[in-house]
Amino acid sequence: METADYSSLPKNIFLDVYEPAEDTFIMIDALEKDLDFINKLRPSICLEVGSGSGVISATIAKALGPICYLCTDINPVAVHATKILTQSNDVSVDVIQTNLVEAFGTRLKNAVDVLIFNPPYVPSPSEEMNVDNLSLATCGGSKGREVMDRFFPYVSKLISENGVFYLTCISQNNIEDIQKHSSLHKLQMCIVLDRKCGMEHLFVLRFTST
Ligand SMILES: C[S@@+](CC[C@H](N)C(=O)[O-])C[C@H]1O[C@@H](n2cnc3c(N)ncnc32)[C@H](O)[C@@H]1O
Repeated sequence: METADYSSLPKNIFLDVYEPAEDTFIMIDALEKDLDFINKLRPSICLEVGSGSGVISATIAKALGPICYLCTDINPVAVHATKILTQSNDVSVDVIQTNLVEAFGTRLKNAVDVLIFNPPYVPSPSEEMNVDNLSLATCGGSKGREVMDRFFPYVSKLISENGVFYLTCISQNNIEDIQKHSSLHKLQMCIVLDRKCGMEHLFVLRFTST
C-alpha cells in the first residue's frame, strides 16, 4: 500500500493536529497486512474515528478504491486537515467534527465494514486530557484507556455482520485486559501486528463480533 502524501498540509498545522508518527504507520502497515482479508469482506463503508491528518483514511481509500469513506475527529483543525489531505490525494472522504461517533446516532447501525481508531493511548492524569488539541490527540487518561474504553460500547453497534475494528494501543494499556473488556461488548480480539518503537511497544488489535 502506498502511504498517502501529506506534504500538502502546511507544516504549522501540526501545532494543532497530530503529526503522523509510528502509531500511525503501524496502523497503515496492519491494514496493508490485512488487505486481502479486508477485500474479501467486499466492504462498502469504512469509518475512521480520530482521523487527525487523514493519512490513514487516504491510504486505505487509495488501496480499496471507491467505496464510502467517513472520518470523525473531535478537533476542528484535524477535520480541516483530513479534508485538505484527502482532496490532495484525490480520494473522496466525508469528515465530521464530533465526539467519537455521536453525530451519527443510530444511522450507521451495523453498517460499517471497516472501523479504524488510533486513539489517544498514552497514560496520563485525566485532567491533562483536554488541555489543548495535541493533548486531546495523545493523552489517554488512566492506563491510557479512557477514550478507547468509552468507544468499545459503540463498536458492536457499528460493525456489520462480518465487519472488523482495528485499534492501535501500547503495552501499558494492558492488552490482556483490553481483550477481557472487549469480550463484555461481544467482541473477539486478535493481534495483527506489534512493534517496539523506542520506549513504546505498539500493537494493532483486530476485533470482530462473537
Ligand atoms: C493519536 S491521534 C491519531 C491521528 C491519526 N489517526 C493518525 O493515526 O495519525 C488521535 C486522534 O483522535 C482524536 N480524538 C481524541 N479524542 C477524540 C474523541 N473523543 N472523538 C473523536 N476524535 C478524538 C484526536 O483529535 C486525534 O486526531
